[in-house]
Amino acid sequence: MKPLLEVRELTVAYKVRDTMKYAVKNVSFTLGEDEVLAIVGESGSGKSTIALSIIGALPENAVVVRGKILFKGVDLLRLRPSERRDINGKEISIIYQDPIAHLNPLRKVKLIFKDLFEDHGVEFNIQKVLELLRKLKVPDPQRVLESYPFQLSGGMAQRVFIALALVLNPKLLIADEPTSALDLTIQAQVVRLLREVRESFRISMIIITHDIGVATSIADRVLVMCDGELVEEGSPEEILLRPKSKYTANLVNSTKTLYEGVMSWVY
Ligand SMILES: Nc1ncnc2c1ncn2[C@@H]1O[C@H](COP(=O)(O)OP(=O)(O)OP(=O)(O)O)[C@@H](O)[C@H]1O
Ligand SMILES: [Mg+2]
Repeated sequence: MKPLLEVRELTVAYKVRDTMKYAVKNVSFTLGEDEVLAIVGESGSGKSTIALSIIGALPENAVVVRGKILFKGVDLLRLRPSERRDINGKEISIIYQDPIAHLNPLRKVKLIFKDLFEDHGVEFNIQKVLELLRKLKVPDPQRVLESYPFQLSGGMAQRVFIALALVLNPKLLIADEPTSALDLTIQAQVVRLLREVRESFRISMIIITHDIGVATSIADRVLVMCDGELVEEGSPEEILLRPKSKYTANLVNSTKTLYEGVMSWVY
């Protein structure tokens, strides 16, 4: 598989007063074209820091101590701000767990789409948006486009957010805890939706989650993070049935109930 993204020896720390807190330590992995990778690990293990490094949105006190993030061979850590703006949203998109917090509350959904097209110098194409919303099973997409974000339910806002992430045909979609803020039924719907996205769009994905059930039900390959380090990498089957590390085994056991709960809705 041709690599789309290569993260090499990524090391990121946060400056807190006079000390450096290492959040990501020497992490390397590759993501192939059309491959879906999940990054799992407990809270604070450094998952979001990896995502923010890829999209160039690390907080001000973060320091990339070492490493490279090659996207189609170009090091994302060395982009100029204008090059970065071109890539984000168009080549690389991200969805978060709280979509409503990331949608402009003062603009109707239609205008949020329009802004996105225009920010990337692409002519606004409402037909394309409607088609995509239909594909993502948004009921009554016309009405959704005329709504303000707060008028949408959590599940619907997440679909709109996914549509915004996909509409400019990016090569890479990053989902940072896309399901955690949702209740179990909606969570299962979003899992199903992401599985459909991977089937109907030619896209690579990085799914970040603390839930190994969500990870193994969507991804081709799962990376397990613990305290900033990559402890294990394997297929869903290997991770669930033959974990190499004790840490992964514990993670599998601790999420089993939720996993079974989600799976009973997915299938
Ligand atoms: N701006 C910041 N300043 C200082 N420390 C930070 C900052 N952001 C994150 N951290 C710390 O870095 C570590 C990794 O955080 P990160 O958010 O990447 O973890 P995560 O795996 O995404 O966790 P969660 O599952 O809770 O989202 C944690 O110890 C966190 O407290
Ligand atoms: Mg996080």
